[in-house]
Amino acid sequence: MIMTSHPRFSSFDLLRASLRGEPPDLLALAAQWKRDYGDFVYWNLFPYPAYVVSHPDALHEILVEKADAFQKPPIYKTALSRFLGNGLLVSDGAFWRRQRKLAQPAFHHARIGRYAETMVSAAQTMIAGWQDGAPIDAHAAMMRLALEIVAKTLFNADIGADAETIRANLHIIQRETLVIASSFLIGLLPAWFPIAANRRQRRAIRALNTVIARIIRERRASGVDEGDLLSMLLLAADDGQPMADQAARDEAMTLFMAGYETSSNAMAWTWYLLAQHPDAEAQLHAELDRVLAGRPPTLDDLARLTYTEWVIQESLRLYPPAHGFGRQAVRRVEIGGRVLPKGSIIFIYPYLVQRDARWFDQPDVFKPERWADDLEKRLPKFAYFPFGGGARICIGSAFAMMEMRLILATIAARWRLRLQPGAHVKPEALITLAPRGGLPMVTERR
Ligand code: HEM
Repeated sequence: MIMTSHPRFSSFDLLRASLRGEPPDLLALAAQWKRDYGDFVYWNLFPYPAYVVSHPDALHEILVEKADAFQKPPIYKTALSRFLGNGLLVSDGAFWRRQRKLAQPAFHHARIGRYAETMVSAAQTMIAGWQDGAPIDAHAAMMRLALEIVAKTLFNADIGADAETIRANLHIIQRETLVIASSFLIGLLPAWFPIAANRRQRRAIRALNTVIARIIRERRASGVDEGDLLSMLLLAADDGQPMADQAARDEAMTLFMAGYETSSNAMAWTWYLLAQHPDAEAQLHAELDRVLAGRPPTLDDLARLTYTEWVIQESLRLYPPAHGFGRQAVRRVEIGGRVLPKGSIIFIYPYLVQRDARWFDQPDVFKPERWADDLEKRLPKFAYFPFGGGARICIGSAFAMMEMRLILATIAARWRLRLQPGAHVKPEALITLAPRGGLPMVTERR
């Protein structure tokens, strides 16, 4: 049943939170409203009407059938584009189509297959330095690993000492962006406006720009076509025009940010879930021992690592790193039988839909085996969509699925990770869904 209601929380509450410098917990609010009001919640987000939409059929209308009636919402343009420029995640229309076409070949199956060895060897190098029984922050470890993989595969760059600069500044940017974006009023203030969030965000963007500019400069200077994404971005020309430096910088920043934050969060949640479910962990280990028999995984092994894939799918169901995203109606449009005025903002939460008991039995329970017998095909479309859907579906979904399965197989074949005693792990819903304050675990050699 599709219901509408008018929660009292308003854009002024968001403004108050921003002025206190706190990112508001929009996910918790949306969860409460879905429980109280259903699949279609109206919210007066002055100056726009807003809706939290949680029914798969309505989501199919928004993301596929009537996708031409929607664009990315204004907060993407005001707050996100301050650091992503007009990169793929935030651009719209003809410019987006051209950029997507130029970047797409770097993500074709044949090409990403070549990245498998780099992914496995980065994971092997990381675990070669692990000590039995040592405490680690598994979230930070997964971030370093995913960052190194993105840099090597897509940019053929060794980021070495810059890794920490990138990681720390991207975190600052995420937090401050949400503080800024959470109030449209502040989001509409210029980037130089002297509030603390703006200052911190600007400093972090400058630090990242320096790193990205160096990578682009070195590649332009070498003039070598490395056959990777960066070469494609710099040399790409579907209409005889190579991509301008600014556009290449925007896409590079977008791919760095989108390409490592998400997969590293997914990996962190996967370790967390496995640590709490010894039965699932034992099944995973049995599969890895049987298929790999002690050797590192290869691309060809993936087809036989079925349980490994279910573990990742189930982790993406319970903790989708892109827990929520949005759209804005560019014209009056009918969705789920109701007319939404032009300008309406839509909030879409894979996190909420994927934990809905109408589509998933025992929705809050981690059960990788639920994915047996092609569950994904039997579900309504958009009951499970960790990578979004329609034309704007994640460009890196195949890359990420391969990466996560290979990392899990490489590490879990040799190590298990246990939660540190007394660790309290809580999700923090910024732009992505991460464990708040890290993931304290202990390494244990298998
Ligand atoms: C577990 C890993 C990942 C998850 C859960 C994820 C999720 C998503 C989602 C939900 C969207 C759609 C957003 C929307 O419709 O507004 C998206 C878009 C995007 N993702 Fe991912 N992503 C992941 C990994 C990656 C990787 C590895 C890359 C690149 C290397 C990447 C690059 C992008 C880009 C560029 C877009 C924008 C695409 C467009 O609009 O044309 N993502 N991602």
